[in-house]
Amino acid sequence: MFQHIEFYPGDPILGLMDKYKADPRSHKVNLGVGVYYDDDGNLPVLECVKTVETRLANPPQPRPYLPMDGLEGYRKACQHLLLGRDHPALQQNRVATVASLGGSGALRVGADFIHQWFPKAKVYVSDPTWGNHISIFAGAGFEVHTYPYYDAETIGIKFDELKTFLQQLDAGSVILLHPCCHNPTGIDPTHSQWDELLDIIKTRQLIPFMDIAYQGFGDDMDTDAYAIRRAVDLGMTVFISNSFSKSLSLYGERVGGLSVVCQTEEEARLVQSQLKFTIRRMYSNPPSHGGHVVSNIMNDESLFQQWQQEVYAMRDRIRSMRQQLQAVLSEKIPDRDFSYFTKQRGMFSFTGLTPAQVNRLQTEFGIYMVENGRMCIAGLNQGNVDYVANAMAEILQ
Ligand code: LMR
Repeated sequence: MFQHIEFYPGDPILGLMDKYKADPRSHKVNLGVGVYYDDDGNLPVLECVKTVETRLANPPQPRPYLPMDGLEGYRKACQHLLLGRDHPALQQNRVATVASLGGSGALRVGADFIHQWFPKAKVYVSDPTWGNHISIFAGAGFEVHTYPYYDAETIGIKFDELKTFLQQLDAGSVILLHPCCHNPTGIDPTHSQWDELLDIIKTRQLIPFMDIAYQGFGDDMDTDAYAIRRAVDLGMTVFISNSFSKSLSLYGERVGGLSVVCQTEEEARLVQSQLKFTIRRMYSNPPSHGGHVVSNIMNDESLFQQWQQEVYAMRDRIRSMRQQLQAVLSEKIPDRDFSYFTKQRGMFSFTGLTPAQVNRLQTEFGIYMVENGRMCIAGLNQGNVDYVANAMAEILQ
């Protein structure tokens, strides 16, 4: 019965974790998956999370089903973070928001919704993008195309090519954008570049789908949401998927959200109802523990402030690792420019290493990176950064 089934060889990012775990070398280094580890190489439990979890456990709480679209406090928290607390779109009640199973779940619910109501829409993702973007939209039935983005020559954006490309797309095409900390390249448009891009997107009547998984890891919560807020301020209908996996270090709790900024309150009511139906027939309602943790933190001013400081501490540690990596490599190979390490933002650096070089790092040094050359800087620490820099220098010389 199953002989015709094609084997799924595994995910290039998640599969790396399994390979890393199975590696017996004690000096191995995990720079694959987009996960933040602290300076001791451990997955942190944030202080704000500890406080809330202690509260929630004493006494243990009953676990009823949550509403299909999640807790109200959770949904509001997503909206406030993405748009800012007093945004007119929120006052006008024209934002539909549902809790989702991480950022991936938000993307899938959004993709299913768009495919059902706009089946002819084409979807465009950046070249390159997070591989799962393509799988999720293809899985929802779309043909997925790419738009020009990364320029390996300049380690920047092919900005003019990108603008020209967007100008010729059909109205109603969905453009998947990374508002901050582009995955995998770490290269973001400047604010003025965003202004230009969003003007074209608006004029051409394209639909921006903003996927923000690293809010707070670029500059700060508000600045990282610049592109989202700008698109909304320009009057566009905007899809936004967000994730708390990284910013709360709650990867396994699957805490994300999907928001759709609509034109009117009535539109938002219709969209909200259909998002709920999409969820009902897929997995019914979201898990409650992570939902309560997020909602409790975001709706308590002092925990909220504490949380932001904890995110900024993670951001700053990543930045210092970028500097250290750059410093060692520049010393080892002085005629080569490694300034891209400190220009790129968020967890990732697109190192420019070839698949063969990535493979050498893995086999000879036990250093695991994604085959496309993406390095998760958040896996570096004082104990391994010099080792990694020296190994890279050896490979590059
Ligand atoms: C990543 O890009 O490594 C993360 O978003 C984790 C994942 O699910 O791929």
